[in-house]
Amino acid sequence: MIAIILIVLQPVLGLLVLSVVPPLIWISAIFQKKLLLSSRDTRKFNSMITASFAEALQGLRTTKSLVREQENLREFQGLSSQMYGVSIQNALQSAVYIPIVLTLGSLAAGIALWRGGAGVIDGTLTLGTLVAFIFYAGQFFNPINQIAQVLVQMQGAQAAGERVLSLLATVPAIGDSEEVTAKLHQWDKPDRPTDLAPDGHPAGIETLEFRHVDFAYTDGEPVLKDFNLTVQAGQTIALVGASGGGKSTIVNLAARFYEPTGGSILVNGHDLRDRSLAWYQSNLGIVLQGPHLFSGSVRENIRYGRLDATDEEIEQAARSVNADAFIRALENGYDTDVGEGGNRLSTGQKQLISFARALLANPRIFIMDEATSSIDTETEQLIQQGLKAIFEGRISFVIAHRLSTIRTADRILVIEKGRILESGTHQELLAQKAHYHALYTHQFQQEREAKLFEVGGWRYSQTQSDPASLDKSS
Ligand SMILES: Nc1ncnc2c1ncn2[C@@H]1O[C@H](COP(=O)(O)OP(=O)(O)O)[C@@H](O)[C@H]1O
Ligand SMILES: [Mg+2]
Repeated sequence: MIAIILIVLQPVLGLLVLSVVPPLIWISAIFQKKLLLSSRDTRKFNSMITASFAEALQGLRTTKSLVREQENLREFQGLSSQMYGVSIQNALQSAVYIPIVLTLGSLAAGIALWRGGAGVIDGTLTLGTLVAFIFYAGQFFNPINQIAQVLVQMQGAQAAGERVLSLLATVPAIGDSEEVTAKLHQWDKPDRPTDLAPDGHPAGIETLEFRHVDFAYTDGEPVLKDFNLTVQAGQTIALVGASGGGKSTIVNLAARFYEPTGGSILVNGHDLRDRSLAWYQSNLGIVLQGPHLFSGSVRENIRYGRLDATDEEIEQAARSVNADAFIRALENGYDTDVGEGGNRLSTGQKQLISFARALLANPRIFIMDEATSSIDTETEQLIQQGLKAIFEGRISFVIAHRLSTIRTADRILVIEKGRILESGTHQELLAQKAHYHALYTHQFQQEREAKLFEVGGWRYSQTQSDPASLDKSS
């Protein structure tokens, strides 16, 4: 509107004033690009600094024990000086851009004053028209200056927005297929019979089968080759073997954190990919090596597995895994605050709570991946007794180093290089006198030595070398 008024008032003078607009647009386009690029760099280094900072805090003890503080400091200083560099660049760009816009606006006002003033002296222009003209020219450039200011902020916001949106737009590699989604639409309703899952199939999980499963994390580096295994509800499968053999990979596949690259995994005879992912994973209970608790009370942490559980059910779950006694001995019992990440409790105590949490959720498939590796033998024995309650009626996978944890499994698989080397019960495998026997004998010796240290009064009089008979006396 103001541009039209300027031209109507004084066509020649108006065009002269407006002639600064094309260079203004051109310069703005250039700076918009520059500002966006430097804002992106600023965001990038900002997240690198945040990530490095968070990692440094997490690994604090390792850093201290290896006296790596100076190296970490140097790394952090490197990142922050890069951040400093791009921030200065970004600030310089806006410090140059905004004055250019202001200068161009003032130049236009100067042209109006110069040419218009000459017109007033010549008598071709009245003073009133000139005053009105200069007033309108000022009105024209005010919003342009404001837009320039906003443009700088917008480039910063766009760079930040791009990062958030690209994260939100990431499609998970594993999800429900179109057929499953259609079934969920049809069946996932409150009036669905209780024995049906949200995808219309029966809700129970009776068998889990690995059928000719191949798997690779990266193309060309197979981890599992033609892996076959069938597990029935109520059965406990123990996986043993050297690290890197593929034990965790097997349970990652059973949990559908990954999907097979060849062959299939079937639940009740149906390919897992034809079942609802959310339904399947809601039937999983997983306890890993490093138990993770959230800040809050012990009770809240156990309830995390099933939000509608009553206090009585929570205590029942804790009793089943032998956690009740130690919880009651805490300062405020079940209401004791566990601290951030559970850091006011020992690893063994955290692990007992995470077992209670897993049990409360009442999973159909229970997975323990080295869950007892980082705890003392005493807590392990407590857990050991509680495990019976957890394994009851479920499909369970147990990966453990301590062979005492897996002795009672229905089937023990010795895994090496992604294949089953041996399979059978504890007694059967010992009788084979092969890999498992070697593993067990070695381990047994270590456990016996550890016991000798623990219980000073233990009389070491046995000299049998057959681990199967030692087993009973231990
Ligand atoms: N996320 C991953 N990405 C790439 N390779 C992996 C990943 N996890 C494990 N691996 C590889 O797969 C193999 C089996 O690992 P894993 O199943 O963790 O063994 P285990 O639990 O028996 O120690 C190893 O060679 C390991 O390097
Ligand atoms: Mg592992």
